[in-house]
Amino acid sequence: MSTITEAQVRTALAAVEDPEVRRPITEIGMVKSITISDSDDIAVEIYLTIAGCPMKSTLIERTDEALKGIDGVGQTTVTTDVMNDEQRRQFREAVRGSAEPVVPFAQADSTTRVFAVASGKGGVGKSSVTVNLAAALAKKGLAVGVLDADVYGHSVPHMMGSTEKPHQVDDMIMPPQSHGVSLISIGHFIDDNAPVVWRGPMLHRAIQQFLVDVFWGDLDVLLFDLPPGTGDIAISVAQLVPNAELLIVTTPQQAAAEVAERAGTISLQTRQRIFGVIENMSWMEMPDGSRMEVFGEGGGEAVSKRLTRLTGAEVPLLGQVPLDVQLRECGDTGTPIAIENPDSPAGKALNEIAGKLQIRRESLAGKSLNLGVAQKGDNLMG
Ligand SMILES: Nc1ncnc2c1ncn2[C@@H]1O[C@H](COP(=O)(O)OP(=O)(O)OP(=O)(O)O)[C@@H](O)[C@H]1O
Ligand SMILES: [Mg+2]
Repeated sequence: MSTITEAQVRTALAAVEDPEVRRPITEIGMVKSITISDSDDIAVEIYLTIAGCPMKSTLIERTDEALKGIDGVGQTTVTTDVMNDEQRRQFREAVRGSAEPVVPFAQADSTTRVFAVASGKGGVGKSSVTVNLAAALAKKGLAVGVLDADVYGHSVPHMMGSTEKPHQVDDMIMPPQSHGVSLISIGHFIDDNAPVVWRGPMLHRAIQQFLVDVFWGDLDVLLFDLPPGTGDIAISVAQLVPNAELLIVTTPQQAAAEVAERAGTISLQTRQRIFGVIENMSWMEMPDGSRMEVFGEGGGEAVSKRLTRLTGAEVPLLGQVPLDVQLRECGDTGTPIAIENPDSPAGKALNEIAGKLQIRRESLAGKSLNLGVAQKGDNLMG
């Protein structure tokens, strides 16, 4: 007859934490079986989440150590098995506390700064600005991701010179990298040139999946390239990542300014902060050094002032990016001008704006959420 009870073994195992999720293995469905022989030898079988689990040996050691601590124990044996899909789902549920997938960037302890690049009007240069800021920040050594959420345009991979598709590892999607930036585009998941007729809920789920299932790693900055206007996607992003801050792109044209303002108004409804305004296509530098203001002037300044008044928070004009043939050419060849020619007028302007985004988000853990977001100028990175 054995003198050790299963309850005793469970108590001992409750002290063993899974090294990755830091929860007792008894709480998250990782103990497959416990066998106690007449001579008090104990054999425990542990479930691993995946076959090649890198934590396997640590887990075996910890478990064995816990068993050896039981009074009067004989031989101890620890073996492993791999969870099936259903067990893995339950494991995930136990770890996350619910079946609802968790967006890492929306968690209180996330230090990733999330920016959503928006505009009221199409074709003002959102995607160009997004890829340039991303490449510039990556060049400064930051871990950067871009999520191309423009279902209708999805031009980011092309502008970043990326033809690689994401690949899947277990149930994670690994994003391709280009110029040091991790990229995921809706375009990666639809057939070339297939017209996109996704409706709101489907788009919401797609964006959610990109946030939850893509292995982004520990990002410093995540940029969303939004489709023009104040559509479903902007609202989904606001719901999924409430701490995302808006970057409003506009041209100097007054009409553009009005739509940009409309795009900014969304922040009042979604309670998202507007980080600032970027004026694009501000002027063209002429060979004699003068500036030709092709689209008029003052749009960026006007939007910044009006948004400041509207939101009651300072919404600065972050910079003005001139029209530059090279900017478009670099977009077409897949190397953003900000890294290809950082000394060109447009390259310089974009790098300066990138510098203003280099603010580490403070972890909100343990803080009152309404005052946790880092202030501009805090904790400069790099
Ligand atoms: N400062 C600039 N100088 C020259 N060309 C520019 C500039 N900014 C953008 N462009 C060009 O204008 C076109 C539209 O830019 P882009 O695709 O970035 O705009 P968008 O706002 O993302 O458009 P959409 O609303 O369709 O997503 C592109 O061909 C781009 O290369
Ligand atoms: Mg675009």
